[in-house]
Amino acid sequence: MATENQGWRDALLADLRTRYERRFVRSRQAQERALRYLIDGGSHTMRLFDPFPFRAVSAQGARVRDLDGHEIIDYWQGHYANILGHNPAAITGPLAEALNRGHGLQTGIVEETQTDLAELLLSRTGDERVRFTTAGSLATMYCTILARAFTGRTMVIKIAGGWHGAQPLALRGTRYGREGFDGLDSLGLPQESASETVVTRYNDLDDLQAVFKRHGDRAACLLIEPFLGTSGFIAATPEYLRTARELTWRYGALLICDEIISGFRFCAAGLQKLYGVQADLSTYGKIVGGGMPVAAVTGRADVLALAGKATGRKVLFEGGTYSAHPASMLAGKVMLEHLVQHESTLYPQLAAAGERLRAGIEKVFADHGVLARCTGRGNEVLPGSSMIQVHFPCREDVALDSPDLVWNPQHCDVAMREQVLKLGLLLRDVNVSHGLGALSAAHSEADLSQTLEAFDWLAGEIARARG
Ligand SMILES: Cc1ncc(COP(=O)(O)O)c(C=O)c1O
Repeated sequence: MATENQGWRDALLADLRTRYERRFVRSRQAQERALRYLIDGGSHTMRLFDPFPFRAVSAQGARVRDLDGHEIIDYWQGHYANILGHNPAAITGPLAEALNRGHGLQTGIVEETQTDLAELLLSRTGDERVRFTTAGSLATMYCTILARAFTGRTMVIKIAGGWHGAQPLALRGTRYGREGFDGLDSLGLPQESASETVVTRYNDLDDLQAVFKRHGDRAACLLIEPFLGTSGFIAATPEYLRTARELTWRYGALLICDEIISGFRFCAAGLQKLYGVQADLSTYGKIVGGGMPVAAVTGRADVLALAGKATGRKVLFEGGTYSAHPASMLAGKVMLEHLVQHESTLYPQLAAAGERLRAGIEKVFADHGVLARCTGRGNEVLPGSSMIQVHFPCREDVALDSPDLVWNPQHCDVAMREQVLKLGLLLRDVNVSHGLGALSAAHSEADLSQTLEAFDWLAGEIARARG
């Protein structure tokens, strides 16, 4: 059954929208001002949901206070970067102290914190070298350029639904559209974005093998998230990631693991460590920046050396006024030290909270006769997970193991997940994205209970609207 034309759901959404507009009056006024200066009122589309986003005034731990005085439990948590919650003292303390003694804003002069963070990061990932930049999009762009230069090939194989930031060689198949996950995602891209980027279906061994058979000799790299983020919160199966490693070796392409979301989310290292796979290049960001703009390309010394003096700097992976920014390096260092020190307790605690929420959400919907399923669960190598998306499949047997299932309105009610949950839960002071988001160490048992109450209330509204 297709879910595109559900009249009752659209009526519910209209009602929630009216209630939201009434409840967030100051934020609506702020949006009107912002629209005079900013495209759509801001600079990041994910933050600019309809009819207008609520405005944060301050944030601490699990909660954000907004302009209208609400205390909102937040599962967006800085685009999933804030694994310790908002503004944790463990990071703001050392940052404030450093700023007071004249260390923090950019100097453009090399300092030691960068080496400290590099040493710590590599000791955890098992990679040989790292170079820092400021955004995940840049990091994945540098990876693809390095891979093309290293292999002397041009083709990039990526996952249908894989998001690697707005970088031209990965802007194919990131949004679900008429061609499924295979269209170009933007106008203005170089012709190569169409001719040299090929997509393959996530967790589909047959398709991966077929794509390598067809294009493997021309492939510079396979770019893959070991835990698929935006497109579904789906962990790669161990066999899939192992096969990705073997095929890239066999065909002479580089394996690039994009760990911008998964890095330090499930253990104090990259997720590939739990899978026993070592990529040629990897990207890290989000958590690794401790709430500050940091992204890193880690990997093999011989590949990264293409950016260095010894090889004549053949790849222009350099520059960046704010790369290795001192305050960012310090925040990243403090964050990683904290995660390493608390690894044995923090990750199991997060995973247990994740499981409690997943089971609780599925139950409250079931109690109201609404079929809802959560993704984000672990598997035989990933013991548990603090990432959760809530989906509304049309039938019990929709597998939810690939983005084309969770984003196709023929299989899942996408509007229910993306819009009804977003506005409905905000009426109960809970902020979610793509159905939920990421837990942090700051989310307490009471926060989880309040969240489940909010879901219970909304499930009742949905059941009533459906009639
Ligand atoms: C897996 C993945 N790669 C890359 C990026 C891009 O990172 P940034 O937003 O820092 O440019 C993101 C952003 O969400 C991401 O989720």
